[in-house]
Parts: sequence; C-alpha cells; structure tokens
Amino acid sequence: MMWRNTHDGYGLVSIILHWLVALAVTGLFVLGLWMVELGYYHRWYQRAPDIHKSVGVLLFGVMLARFAWRFSNPRPEALGSAMQRKVAAWVHRMLYALMTMLMLSGYLISTADGRGIPVFGLFSLPASISGLQNQADIAGKLHEWLAFALIALTTLHALAALKHQLVDRDQTLKRMLNLKR
Ligand code: HEM
Ligand code: HEM
Repeated sequence: MMWRNTHDGYGLVSIILHWLVALAVTGLFVLGLWMVELGYYHRWYQRAPDIHKSVGVLLFGVMLARFAWRFSNPRPEALGSAMQRKVAAWVHRMLYALMTMLMLSGYLISTADGRGIPVFGLFSLPASISGLQNQADIAGKLHEWLAFALIALTTLHALAALKHQLVDRDQTLKRMLNLKR
C-alpha cells in the first residue's frame, strides 16, 4: 500500500485522514447535543465542553493537513456519469465549507467573553474577536444549524457511497477503505 494518492486510488494518508475526520465529526455532533443538555451539577458539565472544544481545535489542524495533502497529491478520478461527478465535487466542497464554518462559529462562541481555548492542557488558542453584540448567542445558533446541515449532507454523502457500492458496483467505496481490487 502506498502513502500517496495515484490517479486511480487513494493512498494511506488520505484514507486515514478521511476516516479520522468522519469519526471526529460524528463524535463532536453527538457530544455537542449531549453536553448542552447537562445540568450545572453534572460531573461532565465542565469537562464535556472542554473535550468538545479541544477535539474541535485539533480537528481544524487535521483539516488543514488534509487540505495540504489533497493539493500536493494526484486526485483519483471520480467514477460515475458526468452529472454524478459534478454533484459529488460540489458536495465535497460543501462538506469542507460547512466544516470550516462550524469550526469558526465554535471558536466565536468559545471566545466571546475574551477567554482563549485551552486544548487538552497542551496549549491555548488565544481569543481574537470578542465582545461583539450577542456574539455567543448568534454564533451558538449558527453553530447548531451548521452542525445539522453538515450531518444531513454527510448522510447524503454516505448514502451515495453505498449506492456506488451496491448499485453501480464500482471501486468508489472500496478505494476509500483500502480494500483489494
Ligand atoms: C462526517 C463524515 C464524513 C465527512 C466529513 C466526509 C468528507 C469527505 C470529503 C470532503 C471527501 C472528498 C475527498 C477529497 O477529494 O478531498 C470524501 C470522500 C469520500 N467519502 Fe467521505 N466523509 C464522511 C463520511 C463518509 C462515510 C460514512 C462514507 C461511506 C459510507 C464515506 C465515503 C467516502 C468515499 C467513498 C469518498 C471518495 C469519493 C471519490 O472517490 O470520489 N464518507 N469524504
Ligand atoms: C465538526 C466540528 C463540530 C461539530 C460537528 C460540532 C457540533 C456541535 C453541536 C451539535 C452542538 C450542540 C448545539 C446545540 O444544540 O446548541 C455544539 C455545541 C458547541 N460547540 Fe461544537 N461542534 C464542532 C466544532 C466545535 C469547535 C471547533 C468548537 C470550539 C472551538 C466548538 C464549540 C462549541 C461550543 C462552545 C458549544 C456550546 C454552545 C452552546 O452552549 O450553545 N464546536 N457543537
């Protein structure tokens, strides 16, 4: 198995980054919904948002790495009709755009009061934009909508991958799973 992509398959780095991001995004969604319902005296009241924010900030780094890798590697050619390929390319762009906006809105909620974001005690991401009118509320609403939009689109994306596998019976899903051709 090679590390880099080729014109007809994904290398190990792209595959690991794809599934790492998929796992983290799903985990952050579930954790996010759970943690906002916790009462003040719950023992995860403080810790759950700390973990959510830390993983979110690290995920931003992973996404930048993924982007750098994507543009410094050959891109495997998408399979399917011209129309399907066009839609897939737009869905992928939207997924990246939604993830970026989610991370930015999360950053704006967390730093609204001027405090930075400690990341697992390793370093702290400084606050840069704070004190805007209703910053936490507006960014919070936006964050919630974006999270639902991202999950809706990834569901569609996963269903499309399954369609490639079960109906078209092509290599689309297999090559993202590093399965033998
Ligand atoms: C939160 C979850 C997910 C996110 C954010 C996500 C995001 C992405 C993105 C952005 C790409 C484009 C890669 C690029 O060219 O840069 C991609 C490709 C792909 N994803 Fe996902 N994905 C997720 C979950 C899944 C799941 C659950 C499946 C399968 C059931 C899947 C299957 C695939 C496949 C097969 C490709 C390659 C498409 C091709 O070769 O044209 N993804 N994903
Ligand atoms: C892909 C990444 C992310 C996903 C899927 C996600 C998902 C969610 C969800 C579903 C909620 C609950 C929203 C609600 O019901 O009110 C939430 C809340 C929250 N998220 Fe994220 N999040 C992500 C990234 C981040 C990042 C990077 C940060 C900060 C650096 C962050 C900070 C927060 C905060 C502070 C809340 C609580 C908001 C409130 O109290 O209303 N999130 N997130």
